[in-house]
Amino acid sequence: NPVAAVIPAAGRGVRLGPGAPKALRALNGTPMLIHAVRALAASRHVSLVVVVAPPDGAAEVKSLLDAHALPDRTDFLVVPGGESRQESVRLGLDALPPQYGTVLVHDAARPLVPVDTVDAVIEAVRDGAPAVVPALPLADTVKEVEPATVAGAPEPVVATPERARLRAVQTPQGFDRETLLRAHETVTGDVTDDASMVEQLGLTVVAVPGHEEAFKVTRPLDLVLAEAVLARRRL
Ligand code: CTP
Ligand code: MG
Repeated sequence: NPVAAVIPAAGRGVRLGPGAPKALRALNGTPMLIHAVRALAASRHVSLVVVVAPPDGAAEVKSLLDAHALPDRTDFLVVPGGESRQESVRLGLDALPPQYGTVLVHDAARPLVPVDTVDAVIEAVRDGAPAVVPALPLADTVKEVEPATVAGAPEPVVATPERARLRAVQTPQGFDRETLLRAHETVTGDVTDDASMVEQLGLTVVAVPGHEEAFKVTRPLDLVLAEAVLARRRL
């Protein structure tokens, strides 16, 4: 049962500030997307990586993949992405050849995920879970608020969920292929991850331990942290 990884990389990176599309921004001299591709291809189970490129950047992404050393045992496909992450993932799934029974979906914006986390997700899918997410306990207490209509205005707190039962969810998320395709065909409306679409089908998603280094590069400070993690790895 070969494993394919879909890497949505088509976002602009608005929260990171002006510059190239986020996935093409460099971390210690190498594009974030290349770090992310290497992180997934580091798993010996992953035999295909589908990169979902910025809509007008597929040619550039192809030449980046050609220009960087990547494992020979892994095949690569590049397809142009869409307006939302959800649409980009669907476009990646449309390009998936039929032999891949297990599919990972991994944010290009999580370039430093360790291979042990990738393999733990794959193993849980192979053990029979239709959908698997890597997840970590929270450091902060989380409050639900009534969102202000004016930015910066005080927001009434509505509830405080018990922190010990909450998890921050990362990628790669792993799926039985048929389940993920059905979720993307059936579920409409805004979602922020793929596993929530499987939840909406009424199936049970399971969480396995995530990793601190699988954090998402979202804001400028995250670039500082990512480069520090890379520098520490080279020691
Ligand atoms: N993504 C995508 N297609 C989109 C939007 C997002 O493939 N239309 C991808 C991003 O490239 C990223 C992942 O989804 O790898 C997670 O999204 P996020 O961290 O929100 O990245 P951006 O949408 O690029 O950032 P922002 O929301 O700050 O603009
Ligand atoms: Mg986004």
